[in-house]
Amino acid sequence: MLSNEMRQRLIDIAVQARRWAYAPYSNYFVGAALLTTSGKIYDGVNIENAAYPDGICAERVAIFKAVSEGEREFSAIAVVTQNGGSPCGSCRQVLAEFGLETLVYIADAEGNLLQELTVSDLLPGAFTPKSLG
Ligand code: THU
Repeated sequence: MLSNEMRQRLIDIAVQARRWAYAPYSNYFVGAALLTTSGKIYDGVNIENAAYPDGICAERVAIFKAVSEGEREFSAIAVVTQNGGSPCGSCRQVLAEFGLETLVYIADAEGNLLQELTVSDLLPGAFTPKSLG
């Protein structure tokens, strides 16, 4: 559980980050903000490409930024879109790699919280590092 203040802060950062989304093909702009257990926040946006499959989602940008800085434990991620879209399958899988209990806040572009769940809720029966034995 995060404090209401921290939860809203995370959502607000995702709302602000969304301005930098590069989505000229879909025009679907996504912002994310990831909170580490050490209290740092990494934001991310979706970045599309003229070669369509080479684009990447906002959530994964935030996660990869954090992991590339040495972070591996996450408390929560906020995802902001125009209409409260839910993280895609690939982002669910990448989130699951680092913990099934990470909280996921789904919010709209005005920063209204629409849904609060865990990675485990989003990806039941996830294939995780433990699955490799
Ligand atoms: N997108 C995200 O950034 N996150 C998701 O979880 C779902 C989809 C992006 C990818 C693409 O740039 C655009 O939204 C439309 O699919």
